[in-house]
Amino acid sequence: MNGKRILLIVGGGIAAYKSLELIRLLARDGIAARVILTKAGAEFVTPLSLGSLSGDKVYQELFSLTDEAEMGHIELSRSADLVVVCPATADLIAKAANGLANDLASTTLLATDKRVLMVPAMNVRMWKHAATKRNVAQLEADGVTVMKPDVGPMACGEFGAGRLPEPDRIAAQIHTMLAGPGGYGPLAGFRAVITAGPTREPLDPVRFISNHSSGKQGYAIAEALARLGADVRLVTGPTQLPIPDGVTGVKVETALEMQAAVKANLPADVFIGVAAVADWRPATRAPGKLKLKGATEEKVALQLVENPDILKSIGTRKKDRPRLVIGFAAETSDVEKHAKAKLARKGCDWVVANDVSGDVMGGPDNEVLLVSKGGTERWPRMSKAEVALKLAERVAQNFYEPETAGAE
Ligand code: C5P
Repeated sequence: MNGKRILLIVGGGIAAYKSLELIRLLARDGIAARVILTKAGAEFVTPLSLGSLSGDKVYQELFSLTDEAEMGHIELSRSADLVVVCPATADLIAKAANGLANDLASTTLLATDKRVLMVPAMNVRMWKHAATKRNVAQLEADGVTVMKPDVGPMACGEFGAGRLPEPDRIAAQIHTMLAGPGGYGPLAGFRAVITAGPTREPLDPVRFISNHSSGKQGYAIAEALARLGADVRLVTGPTQLPIPDGVTGVKVETALEMQAAVKANLPADVFIGVAAVADWRPATRAPGKLKLKGATEEKVALQLVENPDILKSIGTRKKDRPRLVIGFAAETSDVEKHAKAKLARKGCDWVVANDVSGDVMGGPDNEVLLVSKGGTERWPRMSKAEVALKLAERVAQNFYEPETAGAE
C-alpha cells in the first residue's frame, strides 16, 4: 500500500460507468479515491455504487450544510494528492478552462492546489470543435494534463476520437502523475538502459554523417520508466531535448561511444534500443578539415564501415543479458513481417514496430505494433508520450507477470 489518494470528479457521460472500474483498479494498487459526482454524472452512475467501491462518502452538492460541516469544498480540493476528472465532459472542460465555479466540481477545480488530470470523453464533433480545442489548449497552458481520448465507435453511433481511454490506461497515467521520478512506483529498484536519438559519425573535425531522429520517443520512454520508479540511464546521441527529470543522461556522439556507454551501464533489468544508430561510419576520420580539390563534378569516393549493432549485441549477450530486451523497428512496408524477423535476428524479447512512411519521424504521434514471441498487438494511434507510458506499464507488468505482451 502506498497511501496515495486521488479526488475523482465524475462528470456526466455514457462513459461514467468506467469510473467504477477505475476506482477498483486504483484500490488494487493502494490508491484511494474520494469522489465528487456532478449532477449530470448522477444520471449515469449512482452515488451508492461509487461510494461502495471507494469506501467513502460521495460528494455532490456545493451548498450542503452537512458536507460543509464535515469538509468544505476548499478542504476537499486539497485532501488528495491528485485531482482526476473522469469522464471530463466538454462542459467541465469549458468551465475549468474559463475558471467558472458554480457547482461543487468546478469550484473544487478552481480551488485546488494539486495537479489536475482531465480524461475527456465526448462525441467526436464536440471533441474536434474549435471551442473544445481552445479550451484544452488553455487547460494545458494552465498546467493541467489532458489525456487524448481513444478513437473508435461511439455510443451515439458515430466513429472517431472522443472515447474515454480504457481504465487501465487512465490508471497508468495516474500512477505516473502520483509517482514522480525515483523511489516510488512499480519499477522502483529496477534499472533501465535506453538508447535514443541519432548518432553522429565524423568525417573530419567539422563534418559528420547522421540522420533525422529527434529522440522524442526514446526520451519519452525514459521519462515514463523513471516516473514508474526505475533507475533510468538514457544513453543519447545529440538531440535538442533536455534530459527528463529523474533520468540519468549519458551523452554520446558516435555509435562506438554509444555501445561503450551502454555496456558501462549494465547490468540492467531492461534494455530498450530506440536510437537510430547510424549504420555506417567513415572508415577514417581525417585529423584536419578535408579540403576541396577544386575539381568540380569530379567523383570523390567515401569509404564506410558498418557500425556494430548495439541492440543485437545486448540481445544475444551470454553474460548479464537484461531480462527484457526491446528493440524498435521503423519500417515502410510489411511492418509485422520485418519486425518478427528483427525479433529473431537481434535476440529481442519484444519489438515495437511502426510504419514511418507517414509523418511519424519527428512528429508528436506514433502508431505501433508490439511484436513478441507470443504474438502481435496493434496499438491505436496515440502520442509518443502515451506510447511511452503504455510501454513502461507493460514493462512493469512483465516483471510481475512474465509473458504478457502479445497475448491479447
Ligand atoms: O536494423 P534496424 O536499424 O532497423 O533496427 C532497429 C533497432 O535496432 C532499433 O531498436 C535500434 O535502436 C537498434 N539498432 C542498434 N544498433 C544499430 C542499429 C540498430 O542498437 N547499429
